[in-house]
Amino acid sequence: MAAPPYRFRVFATADIGREALAILQQQGYEIEVYPQLEAPSHDLIVDKVRAGVDGLITTLRDRIDTEVFEAGKGRLRVVAQDAVGFDNIDRAAANRARIPFTHTPEVLTEATAEFAWFMLGAAARQLWASEQLVREQQWRFWHPYYPLLGTEVTGKTVAVIGTGRIGQAFIRKSLGFEVRLLCHDPVRQDAEFVQKVARLQAEGRKSGLLRASASIAYTGLREALSEADFVSLHVPLLRAGESPAPTYHLIDDERIGWMRTGAWLINTSRGPVVDEAALLQALRAGRLAGAALDVYETEPLPETSGLRAADLVQRVRLYPHAASATIETRLSPDPERGMAGRCVQALRDVLEANYGGQPARMPYVVNKEAFQDGGTA
Ligand code: GLV
Repeated sequence: MAAPPYRFRVFATADIGREALAILQQQGYEIEVYPQLEAPSHDLIVDKVRAGVDGLITTLRDRIDTEVFEAGKGRLRVVAQDAVGFDNIDRAAANRARIPFTHTPEVLTEATAEFAWFMLGAAARQLWASEQLVREQQWRFWHPYYPLLGTEVTGKTVAVIGTGRIGQAFIRKSLGFEVRLLCHDPVRQDAEFVQKVARLQAEGRKSGLLRASASIAYTGLREALSEADFVSLHVPLLRAGESPAPTYHLIDDERIGWMRTGAWLINTSRGPVVDEAALLQALRAGRLAGAALDVYETEPLPETSGLRAADLVQRVRLYPHAASATIETRLSPDPERGMAGRCVQALRDVLEANYGGQPARMPYVVNKEAFQDGGTA
């Protein structure tokens, strides 16, 4: 087992936060941070790993595949991802190489959930178009319905697809909007959580604080989609073969067909959860009121994407994968507060052999299954 000062070499594909990286330097780590704002090429990552690093810090824009794990044979001991999602990392390849990879759960839950609500609000109340009017000197008088009216959120029906950490935070934040919540989770229902929310709502209704619309229930996907005014997605991206309930294109042509005409789709999860071609078709056909998207099938959103079409501009809100983008969430060096802090802690857990050196016991290791035999990294 290594002891401080540590002599580990780490390559970070981005500056994930100076204060957090400084913690590693203070411990004696040798850190190289890719200096550009754009992501390094896959070849460069492979070269850096082949040249010999003990730890690799990655972001969701880096493809970490068999080639990277092969290049790390004999030296690379951990891949620490600065994100909660990890669909850019080939889990089977990591397992074959017996290299633990880590992520940063929980610390971005609140930021992501509140952003989903802000997106929903911005879409429903046409905040972007409204501001544009003022900026472009198009606001010349007040009028009861000119130039635009939004749709009210309070009291409406909201489908929450995915009731893990972020879905639950989204639900907690919805209480003041007194909405009817229809929850669906393709994998696991948290009945206890829903009961707790239902009890709060019942108290609120009884005391007159909340109106009758405030309610919550688990439903099937079809019911949730077909009754909701707003559908908010909070599932991880799981492709066929990665789970008995894959979420790739969960919202496809058929499922969009189940949605109410005039409903809004809000996506802060992962782009490929939605079939963008089917979404575009539904928007064009006037089947949906619109969509507010923070994630895309290809990121950054290509210039040629139909989602940018001028005729859809009032109905499609586009954001740059920014749901977790707060100073606190992205940069705090505190592992209990920020992604940077948690990413660094996760890397240290593996390299410094915390938890008896057993990845299966380390809280932020994702691929624990590769170490269930009690093996060390
Ligand atoms: C981080 O921003 C993530 O989407 O996991």
